[in-house]
Amino acid sequence: MFHFHTQLIVCFLPSLLALFLFLILLRRNRNALHLDLPPGTMGWPFLGETIAYLRPYSATTIGAFMESHIKRYGKVYKSNLFGEPTVVSADAGLNRYILQNEGRLFECSYPRSIGGILGKWSMLVTVGDMHRDMRMISLNFLSQSRLKNHLLKEVENQTLLVLRSWKDSSTFLAQDEAKKFTFNLMAKHIMSLDPWKLETEMLKKEYVTFMKGVISPPLNLPGTPYRRALKSRSTILKFIERKMEERKLKMEAEGGDFEDDDLLGWALKHSNLSTEQILDLILSLLFAGHETSSVAIALAIFFLSGSPAAVQQLTEEHLEISRSNKRLGKTELDWDDYKKMEFTQSVINETLRLGNVVRFLHRKALKDVRYRGYFIPRGWKVLPVISAAHLDPLVFDQPHHFNPWRWQQMNGSSLGNMSTTITNNFMPFGGGPRLCTGSELAKLEMAIFIHHLVLKYQWELVGSDQAFAYPFVDFPKGLPIRIRHRTLV
Ligand code: HEM
Repeated sequence: MFHFHTQLIVCFLPSLLALFLFLILLRRNRNALHLDLPPGTMGWPFLGETIAYLRPYSATTIGAFMESHIKRYGKVYKSNLFGEPTVVSADAGLNRYILQNEGRLFECSYPRSIGGILGKWSMLVTVGDMHRDMRMISLNFLSQSRLKNHLLKEVENQTLLVLRSWKDSSTFLAQDEAKKFTFNLMAKHIMSLDPWKLETEMLKKEYVTFMKGVISPPLNLPGTPYRRALKSRSTILKFIERKMEERKLKMEAEGGDFEDDDLLGWALKHSNLSTEQILDLILSLLFAGHETSSVAIALAIFFLSGSPAAVQQLTEEHLEISRSNKRLGKTELDWDDYKKMEFTQSVINETLRLGNVVRFLHRKALKDVRYRGYFIPRGWKVLPVISAAHLDPLVFDQPHHFNPWRWQQMNGSSLGNMSTTITNNFMPFGGGPRLCTGSELAKLEMAIFIHHLVLKYQWELVGSDQAFAYPFVDFPKGLPIRIRHRTLV
């Protein structure tokens, strides 16, 4: 027996030694790799640098925290944020790399509180096959043919509904009006809700409470905005579920001929999603589709009020479209008109570049990643700061100035230059397999709203208000403006 054991040990000793050496080398290698972690500081225990990172700052800047960190450590640095070791990237190349490698090297990873409030099936939270299926539904629903044949008309209707309610020489909060417009549009598009109905108004009210929770600390304690938002979430879900039941009954009554003109009908008819999944999909699309584009419209109103030359050029562009339609007897805008809004597209790009509605995204590394000499360990959070390149003087000349003409100059001088600048540095809608599915709708909303705004009204800011990043972008006073009717056409 003893002899047998000795033989066994002698046999396996070289392999054991080799394994032992391999493990030592591996460990050493990992330690060496760790030396290549980006520079930076982990801040306080647990809290890390989160409080400083989230301190509000002017939305047209990258904020003091980011500025000082980039100055000290460079565009890629390590920190401890939202309770996790994190690599922050203000480097456009790395950001693109992160977004394009979704599912392979990196994965979407929003804080748990977001999942708690938007739902575990929300598109912002799901990954892998589930995300792909939901994304397909949302892409189908926001396809170019739907934009052309269906949504453009609805966008114009909802714009006019809001703008026509404005009384001459009145003062009001432009941000609220923009929210009204985008909410009504999404409610109509998603569940066929009509803007003037009581139920739509009630849903809107619940959504305000809900939104306050999405953007507040996730403290589920009595009286906190987060707790109130969780309550609103369940009220909103009950409402959507009721609509769903009504729709199912209608579908049964009308058989296969039912017109699935909204997202609810489409999801019920064409997907295999469960009730719970459809509810979260609808809730999160309502959120993604109305908060972002309303901020973008408020930002455009704000930036344009400081640029009379841009308003003048916009007015000329839209007056021409409107006069030509009048000559042709056309009473509604169509896709050809939209395609003529060239300077408007420059204004939209510039608004998104300077205002940065979404400033950074949440990801985590699925594997140990090496990028240009930096080491990002598996499991670490990664925050691609997409706004950083938009406000980088090396990329955009005088980046803090609202200058829509820069997009035309780039276009004019060389199309090659323009497209490289856009694909490499301009990422207001993210990128890769999670690129915003509503980007074309958002631009359409902005363009049609601007069309009627400049033709019907002149406006000025009342008092001083400006956009802040909390990091979600908001006008603390709601952007008060005074308007005057114009009769141009
Ligand atoms: C100016 C307006 C908008 C901005 C700046 C914006 C920005 C973004 C960004 C940056 C992302 C990527 C998030 C990530 O990768 O983690 C995103 C995703 C998304 N957005 Fe938008 N968005 C806007 C408007 C809209 C609209 C109008 C809709 C829908 C009607 C919409 C629906 C979505 C959806 C469904 C996703 C998730 C896509 C996915 O995970 O595959 N967005 N948006």
